Amino acid sequence: MSNESLANLLKEERRFAPPAALAEQANVTAEAYERARADRLGFWAEQARRLSWDTEPTETLDWSNPPFAKWFADGKLNVAYNCVDRHVENGLGDRVALHFEGEPGDTRSITYAQLQSEVSRAANALVELGVRPGDRVAIYLPMIPETVVSMLACARIGAPHSVVFGGFSADALATRINDADARVVITADGGFRRGKPSALKPAVDEALTRPGTENVRSVLVVRRTGQEDIAWTEGRDVWWHDLVERQSDRHTPEAFDAEHPLFILYTSGTTGKPKGILHTSGGYLTQVSYTHHAVFDLKPESDVFWCTADVGWVTGHSYIVYGPLSNGATEVLYEGTPDTPHRGRWWEIVQKYGVTTLYTAPTAIRAAMKWGDDIPAKFDLSSLRILGSVGEPINPEAWVWYREHIGANRTPVVDTWWQTETGGIMISPLPGVTETKPGSAQVPVPGIAATVVDDEAREVPDGAGGYLVLTEPWPSMLRTIWGDDQRFLDTYWSRFEGRYFAGDGAKKDDDGDIWLLGRVDDVMLVSGHNISTTEVESALVSHPRVAEAAVVGATDPQTTQAICAFVILRGDGENADEAALVEELRAHVGKQLGPIAKPKRVLPVAELPKTRSGKIMRRLLRDVAEHRTLGDVTTLTDSSVMDLIQNKLPAAP
Ligand code: WT7
Repeated sequence: MSNESLANLLKEERRFAPPAALAEQANVTAEAYERARADRLGFWAEQARRLSWDTEPTETLDWSNPPFAKWFADGKLNVAYNCVDRHVENGLGDRVALHFEGEPGDTRSITYAQLQSEVSRAANALVELGVRPGDRVAIYLPMIPETVVSMLACARIGAPHSVVFGGFSADALATRINDADARVVITADGGFRRGKPSALKPAVDEALTRPGTENVRSVLVVRRTGQEDIAWTEGRDVWWHDLVERQSDRHTPEAFDAEHPLFILYTSGTTGKPKGILHTSGGYLTQVSYTHHAVFDLKPESDVFWCTADVGWVTGHSYIVYGPLSNGATEVLYEGTPDTPHRGRWWEIVQKYGVTTLYTAPTAIRAAMKWGDDIPAKFDLSSLRILGSVGEPINPEAWVWYREHIGANRTPVVDTWWQTETGGIMISPLPGVTETKPGSAQVPVPGIAATVVDDEAREVPDGAGGYLVLTEPWPSMLRTIWGDDQRFLDTYWSRFEGRYFAGDGAKKDDDGDIWLLGRVDDVMLVSGHNISTTEVESALVSHPRVAEAAVVGATDPQTTQAICAFVILRGDGENADEAALVEELRAHVGKQLGPIAKPKRVLPVAELPKTRSGKIMRRLLRDVAEHRTLGDVTTLTDSSVMDLIQNKLPAAP
């Protein structure tokens, strides 16, 4: 990628200063950057003291065998004790930890004292099932309190969990059980989705017929939907309400080494076998606790935090379970989809619980934009004080809409960049410090070192683009790929000597702020220029008629690649002259970004192919644009979307 490549095509001039009142009371101020810069390891040692240690660490980082890091290696702690018991011991037992909102409308509010009893019972139950420290437990559950309880129960007894997203198939589950060699699976009869019960247990039954899953001795089953016809394997399957409820609600947490494995989480990846990302205890908990405190300015006594991610993704691990609970937060846990039973469901939940801090993904924000401003306007959203975004680059238009229509033009928006591999937030504005720029994650959080380099690993000057790298180890970094150290080295540490390669394109603006430009594989080469799909998409979304856009580079004999855009239009029934609108959109991009970025083709479509975590699968759109047979569609939420898109396309030349 050349330097003037990924050039500063998009000029975003809007700026938003932190609200004065928030800045005055902010948990973290500009001074934290200074302190961390002066003594990075000292800074993290100080953050580690946010936690309760059975044995205080004396050593911060052991980097004697890079890139295999050890953080706080001589310290010992219990992660679940830190997330639950210590708050009860500090007199906060009556504080609500979780406001659970089931999709059908059933609710449960669980205090820290109740959570302590439930986690203790579940820990005792797992011990009765023979789970020992180090044994892996697979968790395949919907978004219900038992999911959080199960994860904490595993942490409490030192059994690394491997949460598998409930929307994944039996095959995906079997692969993950096999790779982690799990001994117990925790599941449910089913969950509720789009107003209907959706079964889970049959997928477990099927997964356990596959080779490589023989070591699973027990399947612990939560009754959630109460469906009658559920297959049962005697001696293996056991109901949660039979086993867990009869346990003692006392369990003494044991202290484990800071580097004891906490969980394995598989990244879906578009190619090859999924990677089991390994996270450990002390460093991970330090960073998720600190970043939750700093980036969301959490005031545990008054805030109501809501992260809308599924617990099956890292966002749910770090910012539903470990970050918020280690900080003694009160949070919302919602089982369902944003549009069941109506498109105002999320805003209704914000109003009902007085949510102060909302953390969601650009795909959800763009969907809300498409559904219309009038929907959130019907609800009282005045409790909100900070909005967060994560998962993919957020288009400036979506960012501004979020701030305006959800945040009443008042709340800071924090665009947080990180990955399953980084464990916690790495690049983000701080709400009481940073003057924000729509569409940019801007600056590494205190204690984190990131930059942008070119092909030769040289740091690029301000105003230029290249690859995002992390230049210093960080506490919540992945420790390896489970069972595959070589793949860990090859994937992340071999591209640039001594630096972590994130796989994302990025640029620095004239102020040195970082803009994420999407996965490196998503960068297009047009007539010798590297153009980011993200920037063309943002230009399209800035047109009032475009709700959502996905851009790919299709092989082209003249220009190497040609820009092909798939767009979802706003406003139904106004498509009288589609051809004229398509021309207008091409011209609009040309005007915003320059003629080189003008798409060769713009195709209005009804839907875009998305993974279950909400990411657009550009690989499939590239297949369409290049008239190829489609690649693997199994991780799509809805594979019929691809038929609709293919039907729109003119036949192969
Ligand atoms: C990839 C990691 C981090 C939790 C959810 C995703 C993209 C994530 C942003 C952001 C631009 C982002 C990157 C990254 N990404 N956040 N704020 N701006 N891109 O975790 O599934 O491991 O995906 O998501 O491409 O590498 P993940």
